[in-house]
Amino acid sequence: MDVLEIAVSLAQEAGGLLRERLDAPRDIQEKHARDLVTDADRASEALIVGRLHELRPQSSILGEETGVTNGSNDERWIIDPLDGTTNYAHRYPVFCVSVACEQAGQLVAGAIYAPMLNEIFAAGLGRGATRNGQPITVAKTAEVRSALVCTGFLPGHGERNMQNFVRASCEAQAVRRDGSAALDLASVACGRFDAFWEFDLKPWDVAAGVLIVREAGGVVATLEGDAWQLGAASLLATNSTLQQPMLRLLRDPL
Ligand code: IPD
Ligand code: CA
Ligand code: CA
Repeated sequence: MDVLEIAVSLAQEAGGLLRERLDAPRDIQEKHARDLVTDADRASEALIVGRLHELRPQSSILGEETGVTNGSNDERWIIDPLDGTTNYAHRYPVFCVSVACEQAGQLVAGAIYAPMLNEIFAAGLGRGATRNGQPITVAKTAEVRSALVCTGFLPGHGERNMQNFVRASCEAQAVRRDGSAALDLASVACGRFDAFWEFDLKPWDVAAGVLIVREAGGVVATLEGDAWQLGAASLLATNSTLQQPMLRLLRDPL
């Protein structure tokens, strides 16, 4: 299996585990105030990490729940075993598994599996992006007023997020806050969202999604309009036509 096939197979296997456990009794804890983790997050990550130890024993791993496992080569797997944990905890069926592979610091493969939608999004560097095996592209929407846009924010991260939410609500066709950054990026990649932005995302939230958006013809920048890289403090994913109008919308004073 190549790295893309591995990413797809791990995301699907872990997503199956999440789907099976969704209606079962669960153990829900707070890592920090209103930042949840469930037994399913941990089981999903244990499954993925265990498989990676078998399949790619020399690689490093960065997983949300287990942190860093150092390897001996320049390959790193970046995993969000359950993106959308608050949704999952409430049985709101919008969540996914995100698995990305980086080689020598470059994202080369990414897979996002949304088990309740049975959608597997995948991309390999230079190989395009797919949903359930079919090629996808970002939307062609050219004006903010025709755009369905999405954002996310952590509880308590107030003012700028609220300002941007109000701005977008006034200017765009509609705004969603769907609770799974990785799936939000996949939705930009396949054209059902025209833009997605968020501050303070972690590498595991976005590594696979950014590659999938780019391979679907989209662009990713910081909200300051700078080049985006893993670890950046903000992210805006759009098609190339909407990028500047969205940056202006989210930057200009109210
Ligand atoms: C969260 C989700 C949410 C986003 C948060 C993330 P988690 O990830 O992606 O949509 O707004 O910033 O932390 O905790 O569900 O894996
Ligand atoms: Ca996440
Ligand atoms: Ca998570």
